[in-house]
Amino acid sequence: MARITASVYTSHVPAIGAALDQGKSQEPYWQPVFAGYDFSKQWMKEQRPDVIFLVYNDHATAFSLEMIPTFAIGTAAQFAPADEGYGARPVPTVIGHPALASHIAQSVIQQDFDLTIVNKMDVDHGLTVPLSLMCGQPPADDFRWPCPVIPFAVNVVQYPVPSGRRCFMLGQAIRKAVESFDEDLNVHIWGTGGMSHQLQGPRAGLINKEFDNAFLDQLIQNPEAAASIAHIDYVREAGSEGIELVMWLIARGAMADIAGGPAPRLAHRFYHVPASNTAVGHLILENQGTLP
Ligand code: DHB
Ligand code: FE
Repeated sequence: MARITASVYTSHVPAIGAALDQGKSQEPYWQPVFAGYDFSKQWMKEQRPDVIFLVYNDHATAFSLEMIPTFAIGTAAQFAPADEGYGARPVPTVIGHPALASHIAQSVIQQDFDLTIVNKMDVDHGLTVPLSLMCGQPPADDFRWPCPVIPFAVNVVQYPVPSGRRCFMLGQAIRKAVESFDEDLNVHIWGTGGMSHQLQGPRAGLINKEFDNAFLDQLIQNPEAAASIAHIDYVREAGSEGIELVMWLIARGAMADIAGGPAPRLAHRFYHVPASNTAVGHLILENQGTLP
């Protein structure tokens, strides 16, 4: 059967993609950001996931403001990197896993979470920047991401957005869905976006290191408490775009301890400010004793 062996949490920032694509990752401003992912890139090579279930948000790229699904699962065979206004990033096409994605859709909808099924979708920096941070730039002679990816898009752009509590419960349903897939697969679940940032209005540029680090502590040790943070508190403390953090709760809800298993092992923790307008946070949690 398929197993979730680890969860990964990371911010996304379009400027990180641009820094990588333009060869600026070793410039003094960017070097400390990318250094925080050196461990992670090595870890990815050692872990060799078969599939990444990647929770992210679309930024009015695939879904315009005309149509906004709350939760959307990508069931296609492949997903093209989107053109966000400067041309598509020079990164590989994302290969999907239609069989597992369809199974998860079936199982999670039967567990009373309504998902939108998306058979065609481009993926923006919300998905490709975390892949770049964790996997580096694939070499020219093997230009592909290390494994298939199931994109799972969450609306955190247009209110009403889902609560942290609902995201946490959805993660639990996703774990059950994965574990009922009848094929031995090593699955990673990623929660992306955040941490504190606000891109517009009088508070543009807001960063809250205290909130972010308390959130990281709580996500590791007391995820139920993190799941009870109200929208207004994200906005007040972490800025309007800090609401992206609810996506981390989907990945955390899918970990074994939430279903009565052992506490996860903290493999890596990183926090850095600034990166564009965003605080960059990153965690890797491993489930204990689940490697196939
Ligand atoms: C920035 C951060 C985001 O999450 C985003 O979607 C766009 C821009 C930024 O920090 O500039
Ligand atoms: Fe964003």
